[in-house]
Amino acid sequence: MANIKVHDKEFEPYLTDDQLQSRIKAMAEAINTDYAGKKPLFIAILNGSFMFASDLFKYITIDAEICFIKLASYKGTKSTGHVITAIGLDTDIIDRHVLILEDIVDTGKTLSEFLPQFQHQQPLSLKIAALLHKPDAMVYPIKIDYLGFSIPNKFVVGYGLDYDGLGRNIKEIYQLVG
Ligand code: IMP
Repeated sequence: MANIKVHDKEFEPYLTDDQLQSRIKAMAEAINTDYAGKKPLFIAILNGSFMFASDLFKYITIDAEICFIKLASYKGTKSTGHVITAIGLDTDIIDRHVLILEDIVDTGKTLSEFLPQFQHQQPLSLKIAALLHKPDAMVYPIKIDYLGFSIPNKFVVGYGLDYDGLGRNIKEIYQLVG
């Protein structure tokens, strides 16, 4: 796999399609076991998690529901720290086992601001599945219950993740060079 350019920046191959799929399959298998008989509600956070949510959900074999909400805390390559809810939650989460699906936990700000709002609605349980986590960037500690990959504190694109709007359609994950 060769390096790619997204806007003005160069990115190098980091996680292949195969690596992503086999890890996501393993995550789904753990979820299938842990949530059997609980009819969990998956809440995927748009935009970045759409590919992860779609692939993970295909490996889910137990009864489960999924819905999508949209928050944003990111502009360019540095977190702006502003969390905005653009598409709200239209499914009742009271008395449901809720699993949040997030593409990447970076500073942890997005989830740490939003989780209390979910808790407030009294789900039976509230857990997090994240494809990627940058432990060195963590400012607001978040417990990730199902994690795909722990990655260095470098900007990544692909597999749903963008750099200023571009790169989401790439099948693999690429890391910023330098
Ligand atoms: P946090 O609030 O700092 O944890 O940021 C979480 C959000 O920032 C993610 O859902 C992504 O949308 C975005 N983000 C964080 N790191 C990256 C990255 O390396 N590439 C693309 N988007 C990122």
